[in-house]
Amino acid sequence: MAEFVTDRKRTHHCGELRGGDVGRRVILMGWVHSHRNLGGCVFVDLRDRHGLTQIKFDPAVASEVYTHATSLRPEWVIGVEGRVVSRGENVNTRIPTGEVEVEADALLVFNRSETPRFQVRDDVEVNEDLRLKYRYLDLRRPSLQQRIVTRSRVARSVHAVLADLGFLELETPYLARSTPEGARDYLVPSRISRGTFYALPQSPQLFKQLYMIAGFDRYYQLARCFRDEDLRADRQPEFTQIDMEMSFVDADDVISASEALMRRVFKDLWGIEIALPLPRMPYDQAMSRYGTDRPDLRFGMELVDLSDLFRDNPFAAFSGAVQAGGLVKAVVMKGGADLSRKQLDGLVEVVKPYGAKGLAWLKLQPDGWSGPIAKFLDDPHRQRLAEAGSVEQGDLVLLAADQPDVVLPAMGQLRVHLAKMLGMLKPDQLAFTWITEFPMFLWDKELGRCDAAHHPFTSPSPGDLHLLDTDPLKVRAQAYDLVLNGNEIGGGSIRIHDPELQLKVLGLVGVGPEEAENKFGFLLEALRSGAPPHGGIAFGLDRLVMILTQAQSIRDVIAFPKTTRAACLMTNSPSAVDSSQLEELGIALVDSQQKQPGES
Ligand code: AMO
Ligand code: AMP
Repeated sequence: MAEFVTDRKRTHHCGELRGGDVGRRVILMGWVHSHRNLGGCVFVDLRDRHGLTQIKFDPAVASEVYTHATSLRPEWVIGVEGRVVSRGENVNTRIPTGEVEVEADALLVFNRSETPRFQVRDDVEVNEDLRLKYRYLDLRRPSLQQRIVTRSRVARSVHAVLADLGFLELETPYLARSTPEGARDYLVPSRISRGTFYALPQSPQLFKQLYMIAGFDRYYQLARCFRDEDLRADRQPEFTQIDMEMSFVDADDVISASEALMRRVFKDLWGIEIALPLPRMPYDQAMSRYGTDRPDLRFGMELVDLSDLFRDNPFAAFSGAVQAGGLVKAVVMKGGADLSRKQLDGLVEVVKPYGAKGLAWLKLQPDGWSGPIAKFLDDPHRQRLAEAGSVEQGDLVLLAADQPDVVLPAMGQLRVHLAKMLGMLKPDQLAFTWITEFPMFLWDKELGRCDAAHHPFTSPSPGDLHLLDTDPLKVRAQAYDLVLNGNEIGGGSIRIHDPELQLKVLGLVGVGPEEAENKFGFLLEALRSGAPPHGGIAFGLDRLVMILTQAQSIRDVIAFPKTTRAACLMTNSPSAVDSSQLEELGIALVDSQQKQPGES
């Protein structure tokens, strides 16, 4: 008998057969998705990544094969040969192959499966730890498989577009020196030079700049980056960037190349036309109107500034904050006046984690203004407030006062929270914006000095260079982020190509000349060796795919992700290593208590 795989090749995949195929002889291979005995026949839904096809084992067609089929179980891997027949009255309209079934006259079990730890289907809720432990089973589920396939298609589209735009795909080392991107490094000990370490790259930043200095002109790479930072729903310790760098360009050139990339990817994958150029918003405006540098522009509900209104108000918590250089910011929730006391208390919990001292509220109802601070506002002030926030009957005004670094993120988060409550966040709506004119430095309270807002290789805006010595916090950077639906999906900048300016900027972020030569000597020398003006950007591939596939977590677009404790539950990494291995590396553990991944 002809052997499956060697002689009997697969003729179709499991999502392919249609009414027009009736009468054909076909060979299908895949996993037993479900099986049932009905009316003397065995019916199997055979699954591969393309879909499901019903296979019918009828004793009247092939009695031995039928008997064999009665022993099939979920997740067994089989091959079948047979004839495509119409399902007549029993069409299954829920699947594309539902008009037909395959009447099998040959069956081969390639492999059995133990009873799976969970059912391979999308309509059953499975604990995530279990899914991660048996990820290969989880990855058989159609929804997850679809996301991973989409990811692959996005990557393919990126390769095609960037090749068309004249970019070279170039590699950079993983065993490298630390590149400061603001997170902790993952270190790799050297065996040959005991006591020294490589750092896995937080990004290919310096190498891509070196490619420009070497004359490669346009670089890109789908680069894996490693960052040891606190993990959240949109962060993984290793993730993938669409990393780009260009020579002889200004910010507008990088932005246009990025827009061309986005447009083609969206068109290739979803047939969506995104209107170019994408909107741009200066950082200061984003902060003041939305309380964040990654505003979700799918809805309005902008923050209203009421600082002037409260400057001389008898309510000391507010006037005091304003007089101390703080702000009073409000969000108006349309129709929110009927929120209960309990719901209002719930909203306080939204702002508290940001350090907000409270959340005051005012309601405008037929019988006038009410709320704990209504008594502090006379009629003219109420009128001004209503105008400033376009407050109408039935609306709720939520207010907070504090220093900008507290009140802006708190109210920015409240704005998004309210939009969620009101069902205003439509997952299929796409609102892009560039954020530009970032500050070059942010003040690090703990360190008591400036820190780079992007990274210290970012060029200051030419018009602000004179402020570097006098007022560095006022210096703007030639940096830009691309924001989609409230997520930062990409960020980049024009780089410093003048070695003196690079030394100066490093100095401002606490890297003195000696340390600079020691850590970044290779870069400084390269900058002294004929560095062209250059700049670039990196997009978070995982985040992009996450938004586009409407995934709740970045883990749903990565085949083998880590948990929020940076562990792989399937392979049990990180793990302890042999003492001989440590000895070879010249490493001794301080804490001999070895922890298993996931253990606190
Ligand atoms: P940046 O640090 O802004 O810039 O990173 C670029 C983009 O990478 C994504 N990203 C992440 N995605 C998942 N998990 C993470 N932990 C994570 N961290 C970042 C984000 C972000 O916008 N070298 C610069 C780029 C440049 O200047 O060209 C850089 O790495 O979507
Ligand atoms: P109090 O007079 O302290 O009882 O505050 C009256 C209301 O104002 C309460 O609802 C507080 O939560 C709120 N509140 C007090 N301080 C602030 C602040 N800085 N920002 C926002 N709300 C505040």
